[in-house]
Amino acid sequence: MGNKKKVGFASSFGFIMAAAGSAVGLGNLWAFPYKTAKGGGAAFVFVYIICVLLLGSVTMLTEMHIGKRVHANPVTAYKSISRKAGWFGFLAVLIPFFITCYYCVLGGWTVKYALNSFSGNSGIVATFSTNSGEVILYSVIFVSLALAIIGAGVEGGIERLSKILMPVLFVILLGIVVYSLCLGEGVSTGVAFYLKPDFSKLDFKTIMLAMGQAFWSLSLGMGIMLTYGSYCGSDINLVRSTGMICLFDTLAALLAGLAIFPAVAHFDPALLDGSKGLALMYIILPQVFESMGAIGKLVSFFFFSMVTIAALTSIMSLYEVCTQFVLQKFHTRRKRSITIVSILSLLISIPVGISLGQVGIMEKASPALFGLDWLTFFDEVTNTVLMPLCALFACIGIGWILKPEKAIDEMRKEGTVISDALAKVYKVFVKYITPILIIIVEIGGLKSEIEAGNIPVIITALALMLICAIIYFKFFVNTDTGTNEDEKLVKNEL
Ligand code: PHE
Repeated sequence: MGNKKKVGFASSFGFIMAAAGSAVGLGNLWAFPYKTAKGGGAAFVFVYIICVLLLGSVTMLTEMHIGKRVHANPVTAYKSISRKAGWFGFLAVLIPFFITCYYCVLGGWTVKYALNSFSGNSGIVATFSTNSGEVILYSVIFVSLALAIIGAGVEGGIERLSKILMPVLFVILLGIVVYSLCLGEGVSTGVAFYLKPDFSKLDFKTIMLAMGQAFWSLSLGMGIMLTYGSYCGSDINLVRSTGMICLFDTLAALLAGLAIFPAVAHFDPALLDGSKGLALMYIILPQVFESMGAIGKLVSFFFFSMVTIAALTSIMSLYEVCTQFVLQKFHTRRKRSITIVSILSLLISIPVGISLGQVGIMEKASPALFGLDWLTFFDEVTNTVLMPLCALFACIGIGWILKPEKAIDEMRKEGTVISDALAKVYKVFVKYITPILIIIVEIGGLKSEIEAGNIPVIITALALMLICAIIYFKFFVNTDTGTNEDEKLVKNEL
């Protein structure tokens, strides 16, 4: 990257596509549909949308502003709010790192499924997932794709590719929805199963499920929106962008269900079951594609290519947070930073891939981490325990330490248009309502871990926080942790 060029997104559209690319991922295409079916159809969707509005959008705007106000990585950004808060920033770098360790395995699976579409994916889960060599190979292929894109920089790689891939994803998704809805028999049953409200299923647990899903789906509770926000110039309006990203993410999730359930109901209504979880995408859908005959191979190819794109633009954002930090803190070149980060994450992904395969998705994990397969263990530590905490820190950082009035002033100076009425609402939310809701999510998460006997999950999360705090206070608190400006000083070569 030339010295005169700014490091960051060149256009508002590019930024929205990149951030929506991070948000739209496996969580939308795979988790949202089955959670909706499980959580009472339209009733769940209704609660989910409220969660996106009350919790998600406020946290997203807050995280983006924390990054944008200083144009720096999460550690420097939190440090600028308070020196003592810098370790939250370090936690916000570590969480995405741990997520990459399992996200890359799932991404590798989707690549395999896409490429294998023409020979048929039905039943391959048993042979493929237990063939560790192949699982690792596909994870490496998947990560290499992400690496090539991020290596080309924020504007030249992430932004450029997201601007192409996201529209492609929506076109494929819409195509599959139209195909599914035109299948005839069973379609109305599928749509009804997916969307008919069943308010009797709306209990506290379902509401918690919706809140957790909103966080995960919008890529909140770690450094992602902060890092992407740091690459925004004053030409980017954060309020408008937040609205667009939430809209795209929710739309993708809703459409995914409309693509999946009518087809399942048409081809094999017996499979219509919201409790299938991971199996829905990797076992049931391939069966559905198979039963479609020849056209099914093509539909399968498009479907899994779309999922691969979604997963790719998500893992890019996860890697970018870690890359940005390594690059700015240690003044390493971009390509070298991403190589170091991805090799470390791939190494940890090996036991993740193997243990997932041995589970055969349903049975016993081996190797196991405290009785759980590695993916579930990592997912619980990050998703259930640490991510809500990180989101809470973001709201406390702006709501209580920096103060929302100051944040709004800063946003306005930096090109964000926010009306007085909206500013008032934001102040109340970021200070009180959103943190309280997040605390409820956190307590609910901890309670479910304790009930499931997953005490090691909680202990690991606490240990990680302690490690973050120790490293930060020992090594980072008094040293320069860098800003986006540093990228200009480091040559973009390996
Ligand atoms: N939002 C992504 C999804 O819906 C997952 C993700 C979470 C990606 C956190 C990056 C960070 O699948």
